[in-house]
Amino acid sequence: MNTTIIKGNIISAPELGKLDVTEHGYLVAEDGIIRGVYETLPEQYRGQPVEDYGEELIVQSFADMHLHAPQYPMVGMGMDLPLIQWLNTYTFPTEAAFRDNDFARETYRKLAAELVANGTTRVCMFSSLHREATIILMEELEKAGVTGYVGKVNMDRNGGVNLEETTEESVEETLRWLEQCHFEHIKPILTPRFVPSCTDELMERLGRIAREQNLPIQSHLSENTGEIAWVSELHPECSQYWEAYAKYGMWNDRTVMAHCVWSDERERKALKDAGVLVAHCASSNENLTSGYAPVRVMLNEGVRVALGSDIAGGDKISMFDVTADTIRASKARCVMDNWKTPFLTVSEAWYLATSAGSRFFGEKPGFAPGNPLHAIVLRDDNLVSTTRLSPAQRLERAVYRRQEHAVHAVFSAGKKVYTA
Ligand code: GUN
Ligand code: FE
Repeated sequence: MNTTIIKGNIISAPELGKLDVTEHGYLVAEDGIIRGVYETLPEQYRGQPVEDYGEELIVQSFADMHLHAPQYPMVGMGMDLPLIQWLNTYTFPTEAAFRDNDFARETYRKLAAELVANGTTRVCMFSSLHREATIILMEELEKAGVTGYVGKVNMDRNGGVNLEETTEESVEETLRWLEQCHFEHIKPILTPRFVPSCTDELMERLGRIAREQNLPIQSHLSENTGEIAWVSELHPECSQYWEAYAKYGMWNDRTVMAHCVWSDERERKALKDAGVLVAHCASSNENLTSGYAPVRVMLNEGVRVALGSDIAGGDKISMFDVTADTIRASKARCVMDNWKTPFLTVSEAWYLATSAGSRFFGEKPGFAPGNPLHAIVLRDDNLVSTTRLSPAQRLERAVYRRQEHAVHAVFSAGKKVYTA
């Protein structure tokens, strides 16, 4: 038995809006699986080595539930156009570069390292349409200690000359890719880019593959008003965008839909009834002027919501920053709603950035016994304050401001994968 014991000020999010705090506590894992959080070390662990982080915070690591690996080379650039023009002008040409496997290897190694260094240990990620680069991405994430889902993107229309497959290629390359996925911590997820990228025939065949191979699915939904209008032209038989996924069997509790900025009451009810997870991407929605998603309303209605960085519509790789953007966006939405939809608190946004996403990977909320150990050790000893701050206040500050090398250590699936 391999026992890990880390000591510090332990904070976790067991439910929306609640933080569990154990000052100078012990987080214990055996063979990478959490056994518990304790105020005093239980008898059976006495004598085992303890990694003592003193006054530092020990918090859950992040689940980034929506991001695009092949957009990493364009992070922080080209955010001056709305979605469809942005895709055609900047995004598709950037993704096309991943036909080059060497470039993919070098880029994805850097991305994986940056994710881990920022405490993101679980992802739900889009690759590009390239099968080989997708396998390279999965290899590099696995090596770096990132866990979760990666999808080879499917797109057989509207990608332009350099970023399009035929329907047949798309299906065959997806099947070949699925045969090649033998990773311990990185699993495949079917990824029709969005409705305008996939013909009906492709959607039909992907839906069948999802059923036959019991695979989860990720895509985009109701991000931008122009996009929604386009989908309704492409699918006049569907009264709403989501129906163009549902009709192909892509609408269930193993589906992640990014954005949902403009999902109205009926679409939100469909999200809730099916148990679809909304990946809310506040940074991206602001950058691409997509809008402010009604997150408070979704939560009140019982829709499942977690957070995504959506790089490179989003410009923030650190989910601390994405969490801050999420709160800011909820404040904008609150003002726009005449103060009728209360903005998200820090502990609520923290829950969305951690426990809400990890549930998609089968975890229970917080540092629950039985969960794989995913944690960040966080330093803030160089930040100045006038009073002694509580752990919750320190977490709030970390969301908005961090000293250099604030992320001291990161644990993923039971292993220490990063030390500053
Ligand atoms: N919709 C379809 N593709 C994309 C993408 O790459 N990024 C975002 N934000 N939305 C999309
Ligand atoms: Fe996206």
